[in-house]
Amino acid sequence: MKVFIVYCHPSDDSFTRNMRDAFIKGVTDSGNEYIMSDLYKMGFDPVMTEQEYLRDAYYSDKPDVAGDVLAEQEKINSSDAIALIYPVFWTEAPAMLVGWFDRVWTYGFAYGEKTMKVLDKAVILCSAGNPVERLESFGLLDSMKKVMLGDRLIGRAKETDFIVFDNTSRENKLREKNWDMNLQKAYETGKNLFGQKR
Ligand SMILES: Cc1cc2nc3c(=O)[nH]c(=O)nc-3n(C[C@H](O)[C@H](O)[C@H](O)COP(=O)(O)O)c2cc1C
Repeated sequence: MKVFIVYCHPSDDSFTRNMRDAFIKGVTDSGNEYIMSDLYKMGFDPVMTEQEYLRDAYYSDKPDVAGDVLAEQEKINSSDAIALIYPVFWTEAPAMLVGWFDRVWTYGFAYGEKTMKVLDKAVILCSAGNPVERLESFGLLDSMKKVMLGDRLIGRAKETDFIVFDNTSRENKLREKNWDMNLQKAYETGKNLFGQKR
């Protein structure tokens, strides 16, 4: 399988960057391939313009989709699976990734007369500073899953998975204690999720 990784973190000095690299190693060790959009490194512009807003809001195919958006759409349609990798910021993806959805999920691609292919798999790997029990007790984890899987990805992938790496805030001792275990989990996910190369 060809996996399109959409990675969004402002710093290389992060757990998420290490988790991403372990995941990639799993993908390639299983004979699968990947392409990646590293949104910060690319300087992806997440801000929808008025023209883009009017196009999507009026279900119009004019003006033409911007080149940077088209490039992302082509990466999706040339892949079999998508993996979104990011840290949770205020119970959401970082703004740059939210803006990526705003701009890339255009009318005529992701909704309306869709040209977006239905992917075989979509997986989310996110890091969260809080323990998962805390995210669950407030219904926050459920909210994050509903937005990603029940809105953005629904009908756009045959199988979906939402994986949380919790307790990763810097003041939490479990960040270091669970570091190797979490990287192994990311590696195994990359290795096992997409099967052997076909
Ligand atoms: C601005 C900001 C907002 C955050 N909001 C949340 C949050 O709502 N819930 C949570 O569990 N962790 C939150 N975190 C923690 C991050 O999700 C992440 O786990 C943490 O930064 C450690 O991972 P890293 O080393 O990859 O950055 C936040 C961090 C930052 C910097």
